[in-house]
Amino acid sequence: MSLAGKRIVVSAGPTYEDIDPVRFLGNRSSGKMGFAIAEQAACRGAEVLLVAGPVSLTTPAGVKRVDVRSAAQMHAAVMAALPADIYIGAAAVADFTPHEVATQKLKKTPGSAQMTLTLVRTRDILAEVAASDLRPDCVVGFAAETDDIERYALGKLTAKGVDMICANQVGRADGGFESEHNALTVYWPGGSVNLARAAKREIAAQLLNLLETRL
Ligand code: PMT
Repeated sequence: MSLAGKRIVVSAGPTYEDIDPVRFLGNRSSGKMGFAIAEQAACRGAEVLLVAGPVSLTTPAGVKRVDVRSAAQMHAAVMAALPADIYIGAAAVADFTPHEVATQKLKKTPGSAQMTLTLVRTRDILAEVAASDLRPDCVVGFAAETDDIERYALGKLTAKGVDMICANQVGRADGGFESEHNALTVYWPGGSVNLARAAKREIAAQLLNLLETRL
């Protein structure tokens, strides 16, 4: 039980940002990557809290789960879960949320082919965890990129003040979002390693092996 005594908080899935009672903005994410990490961490004896956006997945054995919908709710749940030894942000958190949520269904304006929504930035959960007075010993982020993966991933490693960034290529049919499989390049200051395409459970196990060597 290599992670016995460790408290690990994992975020997973998308967030939904409501526009009105029937519409929302959201990111593509099934939650499978984050759930696989939570499952593998629990198998190694960690006390795991999984903060899950709206997904249709069963809670892994031995994992405590808190369900949220919006980025603001995910922020509150993650911050309330500190202190922890490790935070792993695998969620696809919406970067923007509507400035106002309409209380009634928005109607189409007759004769108009457009509508304008005003969006505001959500709080960056990962960066706030990393900057917190209760900062975990190890803060791990993900980066979902369609192009120039290394440059963007290294930018996030620095900008968000984290210990590791797990970069995955998205926008292809065979990995990243929603798929059963993934491939990661994990970056830390001064190093990186490729985790070749495999089932998300296997990728999660390899990521935890790596974390254990760096704790
Ligand atoms: O859920 P699956 O279908 O299994 O797919 C897995 C995944 C592709 C969603 C996952 O592996 C992944 O890459 N998650 C992060 C997706 C993402 O939105 O990345 P990002 O580059 O926008 O965000 C970078 C990091 O900042 C992430 O750790 C994210 O959780 C965090 N973040 C982003 C915005 C925000 N407001 N708060 C955050 O904490």
